[in-house]
Amino acid sequence: MKYPEKVYLNGSIVPHQDAKISVFDRGFIFGDGLYEVMVQINGSFFYKEAHLNRLKDGLQKVNIKFDVDILPKEISKLLEASELTNKDCMLYIQITRGVAPRQHSYPADILPTVMMYAIPKVLPDINEIDAKVITRDDFRWSRCDIKMTSLLGNVMLNEEAMQYDCYETIMHRNGLYTEASHSNVFFVKDNVVYTHPADEYILNGITRIIVLDLCKSLNIEINESPISIDDLTTIDEAFLTGTSTQIASIQQIDEHILYTGNNKGPITRKLQEALLNLK
Ligand code: PDD
Repeated sequence: MKYPEKVYLNGSIVPHQDAKISVFDRGFIFGDGLYEVMVQINGSFFYKEAHLNRLKDGLQKVNIKFDVDILPKEISKLLEASELTNKDCMLYIQITRGVAPRQHSYPADILPTVMMYAIPKVLPDINEIDAKVITRDDFRWSRCDIKMTSLLGNVMLNEEAMQYDCYETIMHRNGLYTEASHSNVFFVKDNVVYTHPADEYILNGITRIIVLDLCKSLNIEINESPISIDDLTTIDEAFLTGTSTQIASIQQIDEHILYTGNNKGPITRKLQEALLNLK
């Protein structure tokens, strides 16, 4: 993995080595900040409005005052400086509450810290991975709808998957599958697509929303309710969704094998092809 050449920091675009913030930034001290990730494909950001709207909503939820509407212009400047205009790339945006002496409550007049970078990233047409995943208890807090930078729970859970040579960790809370460490999870049972409702226990992924829309247009029945860990053996297909994951078929969940070789399920394949058509 490489650092980006350029970093946008509070209105300036600088070489990444020169992008510096105070150690008293509340993002550093408390993880008091939000982030977004989106990808540019064929010259435009995929569902840019949806990503920026989610950021806007998140900032409102945590009361960070920042005008997201200034971002599109700033993103264009960053892409130009990074020589990535119209090129396939990934954009990271992070907005923290800003710098203040350490104290849980924050000053009313605090200025947010805005950081962005773009790196080249070409996604495959279809993610052909046959993912193996592990499952763990979802020990994160109960506001997972907020896309916050404090990701220690997700980091710990993802690292465990890496140690088992797996792609992801799917979590369950009170015996119900919620989401994965950096993606949403879907199950298919008797031709019905199940996923956890977009409440406070999951991040409402933009790819999740796109996939639900695709199901509707393909006349695939949807049930936005969680699947129980006791129902695992009755599942026909499972897949993960996310901005860089796109749609990734799950081959194995812990010891339970859903299919062998590259024989992913027909609904997963159909949705992958439909997603490709949106690009
Ligand atoms: N992860 N759930 C979690 C916990 C996530 O971190 C993500 C995204 C998703 C999928 O959201 P979307 O479809 O909007 O990308 C679900 C990003 C990409 C990341 O942390 O890098």
